[in-house]
Amino acid sequence: MPTDIKMRAEIRRFDPAVDTEPRYETFEVEGQDNWRILDVIRSIYDRQAGDLAYQFACRVGRCGTCAVKVNGVPVLACQERCKPEMKIEPLTPFPVLRDLVVDRSEIEARYEQHAYAPQRATEYAGGPEPIDVKHAEHLCHMGSCLACMVCVSGCPAVEERAFDGPAFMLKLRHMAEHPADTGNRLEQAIDAGMLECFGCDLWICARNCARRT
Ligand code: FES
Repeated sequence: MPTDIKMRAEIRRFDPAVDTEPRYETFEVEGQDNWRILDVIRSIYDRQAGDLAYQFACRVGRCGTCAVKVNGVPVLACQERCKPEMKIEPLTPFPVLRDLVVDRSEIEARYEQHAYAPQRATEYAGGPEPIDVKHAEHLCHMGSCLACMVCVSGCPAVEERAFDGPAFMLKLRHMAEHPADTGNRLEQAIDAGMLECFGCDLWICARNCARRT
């Protein structure tokens, strides 16, 4: 049975239309111990700060739009459990549009540029293309990345070096192992900074992705 609890959330606020500097606003929230971070944000929006900007779509860990930083750790807000004390900030290193909403347009453009669809030498003529079931399962697993950018936000190499980040590497590997793809994905990965990776086995990425598989 969920238990009623009191929480304190400190939220980074910034509206470029009126603010010159970001500021932190603290909210006392009454909720339940099974709430997710997104429930806390929604409660604050509904009861205390109707002008708070945040975003989400699916609420079940499938769209990736709710990603924020909580106590310095990038998470999916709809999946991460609430805490007694929370500092909630927009996902770094992305430009902030307002409060907890970041601009993903540069990331989306980079996805397009990497052409994450099989590049074929010749079009497959006919109906559905046959594929080995075991291989399909493997590809599906790699294709389950949401592009939520939690891993990119937590990646130490992205912070310090010219490295696009884990999500991009995973997509390139997905294409490299796709039997229909003829693109030079290794060259693309090197251009995207693959050799700058620290090989840290990013736990943040693994934790979020494991929840969905
Ligand atoms: S709202 Fe879709 S992943 Fe959180």
